[in-house]
Amino acid sequence: MPRSKPIRLLLVLAATVLVSSGCQSREAETTSLPAAPHSNSEWRLIGNNGYEQHFSPLTKISDANAGQLKLKWYADMPVRDGLVGVPLVADGVVYQSGPLGLVFANDLRTGKLLWSFDSGIKFPLGVIPAWGSRLSRGLAILDDKVFRATGDCRLIAIDRTSGKKVWEAQSCNPDEYRTITGAPRVGDGKVFIGNANADSGVGRGFVDAYDANTGKRLWRFYTIPGDPSQGFEDKAMEMASKTWGKEYWKKGGGGSVWEGITYDPRTDLVIIGTDGSIPPSPLDRGEGAGDELFTNAIVALKADTGEYVWHYSTTPGDGWNYAAAMPVILADLKIDGQARPTVLSAPKNGFFYVLDARSGKLLNQPKPIARVNWASHVDMATGRPVKLPDAEWWNKGPEGVVVFPYTMGAHNWMPMSFSPNTGLVYIPVSEAGSRISTDPKFMIGRVDVDIYHSKTHGGPFKGKLVAWDPIKQEPRWQHDLGAPYQGGTLATAGNVVFQGTTEGQFRAYSADRGEPLWSFDTGSAILGGASTVEVDGEQIVLVAAGSGTTASVGFMQQYSGGAGGPPRLFAFSLQGKATMPPLQPPPGAMPEPPAPRPVAALALKGKAVWDATGCELCHGFKVIGGPGSVPDLRRIGAARLGLFPQIIRGGLLTPLGMPDYREMVSEDDLPALRAYVLEQAWLEYDSQKRSKDAD
Ligand code: HEC
Repeated sequence: MPRSKPIRLLLVLAATVLVSSGCQSREAETTSLPAAPHSNSEWRLIGNNGYEQHFSPLTKISDANAGQLKLKWYADMPVRDGLVGVPLVADGVVYQSGPLGLVFANDLRTGKLLWSFDSGIKFPLGVIPAWGSRLSRGLAILDDKVFRATGDCRLIAIDRTSGKKVWEAQSCNPDEYRTITGAPRVGDGKVFIGNANADSGVGRGFVDAYDANTGKRLWRFYTIPGDPSQGFEDKAMEMASKTWGKEYWKKGGGGSVWEGITYDPRTDLVIIGTDGSIPPSPLDRGEGAGDELFTNAIVALKADTGEYVWHYSTTPGDGWNYAAAMPVILADLKIDGQARPTVLSAPKNGFFYVLDARSGKLLNQPKPIARVNWASHVDMATGRPVKLPDAEWWNKGPEGVVVFPYTMGAHNWMPMSFSPNTGLVYIPVSEAGSRISTDPKFMIGRVDVDIYHSKTHGGPFKGKLVAWDPIKQEPRWQHDLGAPYQGGTLATAGNVVFQGTTEGQFRAYSADRGEPLWSFDTGSAILGGASTVEVDGEQIVLVAAGSGTTASVGFMQQYSGGAGGPPRLFAFSLQGKATMPPLQPPPGAMPEPPAPRPVAALALKGKAVWDATGCELCHGFKVIGGPGSVPDLRRIGAARLGLFPQIIRGGLLTPLGMPDYREMVSEDDLPALRAYVLEQAWLEYDSQKRSKDAD
C-alpha cells in the first residue's frame, strides 16, 4: 500500500437513547463470581479477575469510609504524555505502560521507581505507528513475565523482576499503516494481541496468539476476508466473503481488533471485538454488500486453534463506524430463572448487549445506554438492528445528518466494570452527536470530527457515569459529567465505584445507589481504569493520569477546560498522608502570532490538507494542541514557521517523532497548510484578546 494514500481518520459516532432513571429495589440475580486467579494483594490482569470485570472483592475501603480517603503517594512518571492503562500489581510492585514503548515498575508501598524498560522504538515511523507509539492502554502479567505491545507492532515479554526482555515478536507491520495501542491479554498459557490502523482504510483486521513462554506464534485469525483469488484462510472467511459485495477486496478493509480481547475460562474461547469497515460510506464499498462479516462484531474463537466458533454483529453494513472493539465483560447472570454464562458488550453504537457465552445469541432485548437515532431498536427475532433511513447521511445532501451516538461512540475503550454484588455494570458513557455529510470540504473521511461543533447540534454534549442493570436493561442510577470522553471504572465489594474524569477528578460513589462519597483533584486528566490491592493490611487504590493529544485526551480537555497536569501515578488509602505540590499554572496568554495574517481562502484550503493527512492525530483538531509531548502549533513562532517546509517535507524533526510527510503533502500544498496553522493561531489570539477586553 503506497504511503501516499491519504488517511481517512474516522472516529466514532454515537447516539443516545433515553433511559428512564427508575430506581429498583430488587437485588440483581447473579450467580457467584469466579475466584480471582491470585490473592487480593495482586492485580495481574487488566480487569483483575479472569472475567475482566474490573472488580475487587476488597472491603476495607467501603461506602462508609471512602469519604476519608487520602493521598498515600504520587509518582511523577518520566514521560511527557499521559498514562491510560490500569495499574497492574504483583509482589509489591506496580507495573505501568507508558508512551514510546516504555514500561515502569514502581514500589507499591512508596511509589519509588524500581526500573524502567525501553523497548527501543525508532523513529522515523509512518503517521499511524508514530501516533500509536505515544499511546498504550496497558499490560498483562502471567507468572514471571509482564507483556506489552508497541506502536511499531511488537509484542514484548519482560522479566518482571529484572526488567529485562525475555522475548519479542513482530505481530504486525508498521509499514502497512498498522500500530498497536491496545493491551495484550493472557489466558491458557497464551498471549493474545490485535492491532489498529486508525481507520486508514487499508488492511484486514486480525488477532494473534503467542506461546507466553517462548514467543512462538500459535495462530492468527483474520476478521475480514481477503482477495478470493488468493484462497481463503478458513471456512469462516469463505462465509464472510459472501457478505461483502462486488470486488470488495479492492475497496478498503477494516475489522481491526484494537482493544477488546478476553479469554473466557468457562468455555476456553477467546472473545474479540472488531472495528467497522472502511471506507466509511457504504457507497464506496463493495456493491451489494450485506453484513460485511466480521466487522463491528463480537467473535468467539477456540483458544487452542483460533478457529471461529460464533459471532454477533452489532452494526452490520455500518455507515457510522460503530466499532465493537471495546473490551467485553464476562458474567454469570440469572436470566429468566436460569444461570447463564454471558458476554456483556457496550459498543460504540449505543446499545447494551447480553450474549450467551456459548452461542453468541442475544439473551435479552438490547436497550440504549445513550441517545441513539441510527436505529429504532434491535429485533429480537433476527437479532439485527432496525436502521432508520433518516440516519443514512450517504443518501442525503451536503448539509448531512446529525447522528447519535457521535463519532467516539456511546462507549469507547475505557474500561467498564461489573459488581457481582450489585449486579450492575458501571459504564463511562458519552452522550453526544456528530454531523456527517457527503461534503468533503469540511469533513474528515466524511465524518465531522469537529466534536466541538456538536455542542451546536442541539442535542446533549456530555459524559455520564451509568450504573446499568444488564438483566432489566435499564439504568439503576446515573450521573452527568462534563466532557463526553471520561475515565474507566472500578467496582469493589466495599460497595464503592471509582472513576476518574477528563477534568482530573478521581471520584468514589456508592455502588448500589450512586451516592457521591469522595472526590480528589489530581490536576491531570484521567482516562484509564483504577485498580486496588491490599498490602500490610492497608487497601490501596491506584490510578494513572496525564494529558497529551495522542492519548486522545487533549482535544477533549481543550473543549471541556479539563486538567492539564503532568503524567502521574496516584495511590490512595485511608491512612494516606502525602500532599501534592502546587500544579504548574497553565500556559499564559498567546503571544501575537507572526504577521501577516493569512488569506482566508488559502487557510481553508489548508484545512482540507490538515484533515486529509491526519495532523490532528497528534496536534489536535483545529490545531488545538493539548499538554504533552507534541507542541501546540498555535504557539509556533516565526523562526520555526520559517522551517515549515523542512519540518513537513524534509524530515527535520523525524528523530523526535514528527513524521516525514513528503509523500502525503505536496510542495504546492505547503503554503495552504502553513496558512491554516497560522490562521488558527490568529483566531485563538483574537479570542483571548476579546475575552480579556470583556473582563
Ligand atoms: C505522529 C504524531 C504527529 C503527527 C501525525 C504530526 N506531527 Fe507534527 N510534530 C510531532 C511531534 C512529536 C513534534 C515535535 C518534535 C519535537 O519535539 O520538536 C512535531 C512538530 C511539528 C512542528 C514544529 C513545531 C515547533 O514548534 O517546533 C510542525 C510545524 C508540525 N509538527 C506540523 C505538523 C503538520 C502540518 C502535520 C500534518 C501534516 C503534523 N505535524 C503531523 C508529531 C506529529
